[in-house]
Amino acid sequence: MNNINIESFEPIVIKDFLPNEYIDQLVEDFESQINNNKYSNFKINEYMGMFMHEVDFKKHHELFNYLKIKIKEIFNMDLKISSGLQYLRYSKETGFEPNLRPHVDKVYKDQPHMISFSLSINNNKSWPIYINKIKYDLKDNDALFFNVTNNLHWRPKMEFIGKDFFDVLVFRFYDYENPIFLPEELQQKLENERVDLFLNYYH
Ligand SMILES: [Fe+2]
Repeated sequence: MNNINIESFEPIVIKDFLPNEYIDQLVEDFESQINNNKYSNFKINEYMGMFMHEVDFKKHHELFNYLKIKIKEIFNMDLKISSGLQYLRYSKETGFEPNLRPHVDKVYKDQPHMISFSLSINNNKSWPIYINKIKYDLKDNDALFFNVTNNLHWRPKMEFIGKDFFDVLVFRFYDYENPIFLPEELQQKLENERVDLFLNYYH
């Protein structure tokens, strides 16, 4: 099997991605921390109105191993995963309005194209994601993989009330053996498109 071409990689969705036991363990871990300490253990992203929790490799090594095997199957990439998996909770309880405005994930000159894995969990509702104006209406446990470096993505504005939340598991990775860097001209083009999307499509 050949490695995929990250630059032209089109988003893929894989339904029912994680075994339920791993999801249950994650949600239980996250919620028990909230019950014990409210949100005091979590980092807050003020710009996006979300709590961030790095998933503990020791507690969830079977899940990490499963992700590694799946990424090998799908992308033919060998990853050493022991960190970087984040449990995110968008919530007004951060003190900030949850949002995901149009953007590409910024990489610096010495960083290559990144693929993101994201999976909504624990929600029973959808908060669609747009990738280059194409809407992905995903349910819990639908895994989405796409290149976050050259694909503009966002979620439409959604009103969160009181304790409403939206939970997502995310992980970003790249091919260590074949890193591909983003040309500067493309960065400028993406920035121009981002402004256009923000002004004309984001609502
Ligand atoms: Fe992003």
